Amino acid sequence: MKLTNYLVIFVQLLVLTCASPVLAKSPQQPVIQSILDDAYHKFKNDTSGKNADYIPALAKVDSAYFGLVVVTPHGKIYTKGDVNQPFSIQSISKVFTLALAMEQKGPQTIVDKIGVNATGLAFNSVTAIELNKARSVNPLVNAGAIATVSLLDGNNEKAKWSALSAWYDKFANRKLSVLEDVYKSESDTNGHNRAIAELLTSYDRFYGDVDINLAVYTRQCSVAVTAKDLAVMASVLANNGVHPLTDKRLMSSDNVSRVLAVMTTAGLYENSGQWAYQVGLPAKSGVGGGIIAVSPGKFAVAVFSPKLDSAGNSIRAQKAIDFIAEKLHANIF
Ligand code: DON
Repeated sequence: MKLTNYLVIFVQLLVLTCASPVLAKSPQQPVIQSILDDAYHKFKNDTSGKNADYIPALAKVDSAYFGLVVVTPHGKIYTKGDVNQPFSIQSISKVFTLALAMEQKGPQTIVDKIGVNATGLAFNSVTAIELNKARSVNPLVNAGAIATVSLLDGNNEKAKWSALSAWYDKFANRKLSVLEDVYKSESDTNGHNRAIAELLTSYDRFYGDVDINLAVYTRQCSVAVTAKDLAVMASVLANNGVHPLTDKRLMSSDNVSRVLAVMTTAGLYENSGQWAYQVGLPAKSGVGGGIIAVSPGKFAVAVFSPKLDSAGNSIRAQKAIDFIAEKLHANIF
């Protein structure tokens, strides 16, 4: 080969490396770590929003926590801040329950029995059930999520919970536990979710016993995770269904695409459109203060910060993920 050809190949490789810092092998570490450090410092003093308080235990969580984690499909983990602090997973659990329901029942069952459209309304909206023929509307709002639990295999609470918690553990790559104080606090105050389950039952859009499925749903929302756990769990979605840390396939790649589609249309509830417009990544929030976002083939990110906006989405987590996604050129659109 001529010297000029070598030169052309060298320049092409250089351009590729600079254009996609996430995919580049050696500059990867300092680039991602310094973006996390910058995001942390940029938003550290932002105290806007407030903790969820309709579940009394969540109001008591220290709202200063701020933890950011990125996991790549190669299994590299980058962290900044309070990344080992446990908090309740809340609605982020809905993503993984949906994944299990899809693996057990097939993706068409979700379309037929739950729905996959956006509600454009609050996560626990009863109006959405009345307005939409699909009733539960999608698996990421409370109605669809509780109904999705009712679809899962298992005849009793114990059987359902043991399969579901074992499934979450596979994603986290460790045994997760339940925050019993959060579970009790939410169980004592979940009249609204009970009403949703009863309403769905009246429309033949609930697929089991209300008490059992509400208990399993409430327990799944009370699972203790850290920001690091969440990023590791989400990294399976970023890696097309194969766990980056174990190399085991947990989901079919078809189901991963569908889960990401629902996250895009409904992951941040009535703000999902604005989020897609601004950030361009499938994401899911929880009222515990966590948000996960997935850049397929590139990385998963999780941020924990308890103060929420009026839609129930963590304010600092949204800002930090927006910043990180932009710096890593991650917008999928
Ligand atoms: O059912 C509920 O209301 C809570 N366990 C979960 C809601 C939630 O996390 C909404 N997310 N942003």
